[in-house]
Amino acid sequence: MKRRTFLKKSLFAGGAAMLGARALFANPTETTNMQNAVPDYVLNNGVHIPILGYGTWNVRGRDGQQAIEAALEVGYRHIDSAAYYRNEDIVGAAVRASGLRREEVFVTTKLMWGMDADGEAAKREFAKSLKALQMDYVDLYLIHAPYGDIKSIWAAFCALHEQGRAKAIGVSNFSTELVAQLCEEFPVKPALNQIELHPFHQQVQTQAALDKLGVATESYSPFGTGDTRILKNETLTRIGEKYGKTAAQVILRWQIQRNIITIPKTARRARMIENLSIFDFALSDEDMQQIAALG
Ligand SMILES: NC(=O)c1ccc[n+]([C@@H]2O[C@H](COP(=O)([O-])OP(=O)(O)OC[C@H]3O[C@@H](n4cnc5c(N)ncnc54)[C@H](OP(=O)(O)O)[C@@H]3O)[C@@H](O)[C@H]2O)c1
Repeated sequence: MKRRTFLKKSLFAGGAAMLGARALFANPTETTNMQNAVPDYVLNNGVHIPILGYGTWNVRGRDGQQAIEAALEVGYRHIDSAAYYRNEDIVGAAVRASGLRREEVFVTTKLMWGMDADGEAAKREFAKSLKALQMDYVDLYLIHAPYGDIKSIWAAFCALHEQGRAKAIGVSNFSTELVAQLCEEFPVKPALNQIELHPFHQQVQTQAALDKLGVATESYSPFGTGDTRILKNETLTRIGEKYGKTAAQVILRWQIQRNIITIPKTARRARMIENLSIFDFALSDEDMQQIAALG
């Protein structure tokens, strides 16, 4: 696709969100990414991450690459991948096909999980990920789950960060205690902890503890991996109706208002746009309380 068509489509997708995003995020730690109107969250090392990204679990093959290209086309600038998803190659290919500059897209990947790894294994796995992505750095590299010799792995992550090959480093599925240990013992704290978080699993205390450590909270499975009890929940649907929004949009908006980075996945273009169109409305305190009561 020609670049001009691409930009026009991107602006169309993000245009409605732009005013809302600018007006709603007066907090100086959040700035508006003008191109797609998704505000940035500023991580503890100063790196900016778009607060809403595109999840890619189960996004594979030719259809998968087309889905990631569509996500970039409609305005996503943050892609969440993992060695475990076996899709780093199509993430890299989609970014190149988009016509965007590398630095315009925030790319996360994760150390292959389940491996009884140490720091040396982590460095080898990281090199494999870069090769699959065909990139010379990632924006965020995460330990997918707390397996193996975590301290040796984190030391390797700190070295990758020092070398500029991982602009930010973090963890996933970690207990707060383990995050606290890394914060105490290493020169570089995890930038974030990516954890399961949705209306039925709200992680309020975990987020409060991570906040105290200066570590951001990132939600995976914001819809409980498409759980209809969540997506068709009466309270969420009713709240959405007041604003002309779906339950899915209410969930993502609730997360953003809690200052949580989120990475919904969908293979469908219309839902990609739906999930992105959450910056032109705000939930009231009462709405937030009603959603909190679902937890
Ligand atoms: N760190 C970890 O251990 C970990 C674990 C799990 C996930 N993750 C990451 O988090 C991302 C998101 O989590 P997830 O993939 O488990 O699931 P999710 O984002 O909670 O839900 C995805 C499901 O919801 C459906 N969906 C998406 N948007 C919708 C909408 N607007 N209305 C109705 N249905 C909608 C999708 O169906 P369609 O595709 O048919 O639209 C899909 O079945 C993953 O892709 C991955 O990047 C990380």
